[in-house]
Amino acid sequence: MTAAAPIPHAAGPAAAGPATPRPYVLLSCAMSIDGYIDDASDQRLMLSNEADLDRVDAVRAGCDAILVGAATVRADDPRLVVRSPQRRRERADRGLPPSPTKVTVTGSGDLDPAARFFTVGDAERVVYCATSVLAQTRHRLDGLATVADGGDPVDPCRVLADLAARGVRRLMVEGGAAVHALFLGAGLADELHLVVAPFFVGDRRAPRFPGDGRFPWHPGHRAGLAEVRQIGDVVLLRYALSGRCPDV
Ligand SMILES: NC(=O)c1ccc[n+]([C@@H]2O[C@H](COP(=O)([O-])OP(=O)(O)OC[C@H]3O[C@@H](n4cnc5c(N)ncnc54)[C@H](OP(=O)(O)O)[C@@H]3O)[C@@H](O)[C@H]2O)c1
Repeated sequence: MTAAAPIPHAAGPAAAGPATPRPYVLLSCAMSIDGYIDDASDQRLMLSNEADLDRVDAVRAGCDAILVGAATVRADDPRLVVRSPQRRRERADRGLPPSPTKVTVTGSGDLDPAARFFTVGDAERVVYCATSVLAQTRHRLDGLATVADGGDPVDPCRVLADLAARGVRRLMVEGGAAVHALFLGAGLADELHLVVAPFFVGDRRAPRFPGDGRFPWHPGHRAGLAEVRQIGDVVLLRYALSGRCPDV
């Protein structure tokens, strides 16, 4: 794995080492009434409203790293930076970089060096890629990101252990469906922010939240509902998924 300096963190001091706990994992997702996180077109579907996007910006600003799947990098070309100048200043005042570290996972290594993930902002970038494509991905992203061996397929436990060793204590996972399923299925999620937008997509070709999987929360083990908040025309449902969530 490529060595990189530990990253200053948003949640207070901690010594990284063998006993470092995995980062707190907060999943964030917006979906339609019928559970879709996008439509089947090439255009990005806007599910949140401005007030909710500002809330998401505040959550981002409180995290050390933001993770999305490689398919989201390809489909949405997200910037993954803190938008608010005030929040960026507040982070800088606390000795943090203006935006959290950007993280993605890929099995194919098919990531465009010109994607905004790599070109926008000056945050650290870490790519966890499958062992089989490590060399070629390092070559492709040379100078743009730390490319780390995530296993084959990429193992979310390994990703979290490596992020912890890099000083990440609070990780925001912003999708898409496969990556949410990866963390949920492994029981590696502490909190879920689920926003419901007031319309239907109604197209089974579109991605749904989360992808297929066997999840630790089922009729015999219900998640804790920590909060319901109306934000304009959307609703935020906040679920406590582990005992680490302060609202459990
Ligand atoms: N509404 C929302 O909140 C929201 C947020 C984000 C994204 N989205 C939408 O979600 C859709 C994309 O979701 P998605 O489920 O197709 O993809 P995704 O979760 O963004 O990314 C999936 C990709 O991540 C990599 N990956 C995931 N798990 C892996 C593992 N264990 N090992 C190796 N690689 C792994 C693979 O990349 P490779 O293909 O490179 O191997 C895989 O194809 C887009 O339509 C986007 O607009 C919606």
